[in-house]
Amino acid sequence: MIYSILLVIHNALRWLVVGSLLASLGMSFSGLVRQRTYQPLDQTLRVVATSIAHTQLLVGFYLYAKSPIVSYYWKAHPTFADAQEFPFFSLIHISLMIAAVVIMTIGSSKAKRQKLASEKFKTTVIYFAIALVIIFIAIPWPFSPLATRPLYRTL
Ligand code: HEM
Repeated sequence: MIYSILLVIHNALRWLVVGSLLASLGMSFSGLVRQRTYQPLDQTLRVVATSIAHTQLLVGFYLYAKSPIVSYYWKAHPTFADAQEFPFFSLIHISLMIAAVVIMTIGSSKAKRQKLASEKFKTTVIYFAIALVIIFIAIPWPFSPLATRPLYRTL
């Protein structure tokens, strides 16, 4: 029961992860191009995007521990373990997502420490763009060649 609720949350949170990342990335890019000062909103967007990603990471860890797909994979169940989505969720999804969130976190704290607005914007653009590409590849979109899941879920 908790598993199905968290799966619905994990599915929906993906939109907030991608949306907040895009918002922070877009603001930083325009800030860099327009050479404006670093505003409180820039800081808020950067911190909110990183926190949403951390929340998604925690939900992901719970799902990973309980997922029947993952446990089948590690038991190497003869009938199921060959299907592509077993290694996808057991190895690829988790490693790429952890890597992306680590990159976001490093970028965010580096930008926080920097003094010049242009440096803060540039750091956020670079680290968040890399994280976005990795997250995009690792999401099981309906059109993904790796594994497919619905765009939204209800209980
Ligand atoms: C921050 C980035 C992440 C995003 C955007 C994300 C996104 C998604 C999405 C959209 C699904 C499909 C949900 C569904 O079937 O409706 C999914 C499934 C899953 N995710 Fe993530 N995820 C992230 C991080 C993680 C992490 C770090 C882990 C593991 C520690 C994880 C573990 C899982 C598992 C195990 C499933 C499959 C659950 C199942 O079908 O039994 N996710 N993820």
